[in-house]
Amino acid sequence: MTGEGVDRVAQDARGAGLSGRAARWTARVLTIYPEMFPGPLGQGVVGRGLQAGLWDLQVMDIRGYARDKHASVDDVPYGGGPGMVMRADVVAAAVDAAGEAAAQAAGAPVPLLALTPRGRPLSQARLRRLAAGPGAVLLCGRFEGIDERLFQARACEEVSLGDFVLSGGEIAAMAVLDGVARLLPGVVGSAASLDEESFSGGLLEYPHFTRPRDWEGRAVPEVLLSGHHGQIAAWRRAEAERATRLRRPDLWSAHRGGARGRAVRN
Ligand SMILES: C[S@@+](CC[C@H](N)C(=O)[O-])C[C@H]1O[C@@H](n2cnc3c(N)ncnc32)[C@H](O)[C@@H]1O
Repeated sequence: MTGEGVDRVAQDARGAGLSGRAARWTARVLTIYPEMFPGPLGQGVVGRGLQAGLWDLQVMDIRGYARDKHASVDDVPYGGGPGMVMRADVVAAAVDAAGEAAAQAAGAPVPLLALTPRGRPLSQARLRRLAAGPGAVLLCGRFEGIDERLFQARACEEVSLGDFVLSGGEIAAMAVLDGVARLLPGVVGSAASLDEESFSGGLLEYPHFTRPRDWEGRAVPEVLLSGHHGQIAAWRRAEAERATRLRRPDLWSAHRGGARGRAVRN
């Protein structure tokens, strides 16, 4: 990777050596605010995984690829209008450097994800596919976004966090990375908790309860105190189905459609 724009945050934070580096799931984030990272990604299970070298985070400052002495990454929009637009030539230089470094480390091309509000909404299924690969390059926009020709010229998947507008792609990139990192082997203590959580089986998760047994006049459902694993599993399944049916009719009909399809195929 060309040196100037690169800030190897994770490596600095850990002071780790290079052994095993290529095999690690590696995120390369392109941003004009590299100091925002690792931010929340340095905390909790995902942060502990980063510290332990279970995944790697490299942050590249897009300004390191600017072409003028002011390190400009943006310019006024053709056609007029408010705000500034990120330059395709500067962003492409950063994207190419990250892509080459990623491909070299992984021995194969690594997906390039651009965080944009017009992208495909992020899903647990997409996170799982990403986690199964060698890593990703994540491009964070700012201002009014990036010159359209960048998307035409580079194979890039646009990913959205939802139907709302953030001031930059960094928080969206952190959401992607938090979601991926917790799926990587060893990051979350109990792999079973990943299988049972929301979206994994096409349903929302069942409700949880812990001590105290009675709180503000509300008791824990009796079945959870029974010690009967079969009944507990059946209750949880029914609760997951009920929550999905009531809260997310879209997920529920997709789930029902999938179940019907499986029944017909079998
Ligand atoms: C202020 S926004 C640009 C919004 C753009 N002018 C529009 O109307 O769609 C700046 C950057 O924030 C990021 N961003 C904003 N909302 C996002 C979302 N819902 N999902 C992912 N990234 C988002 C993108 O990287 C975007 O380029």
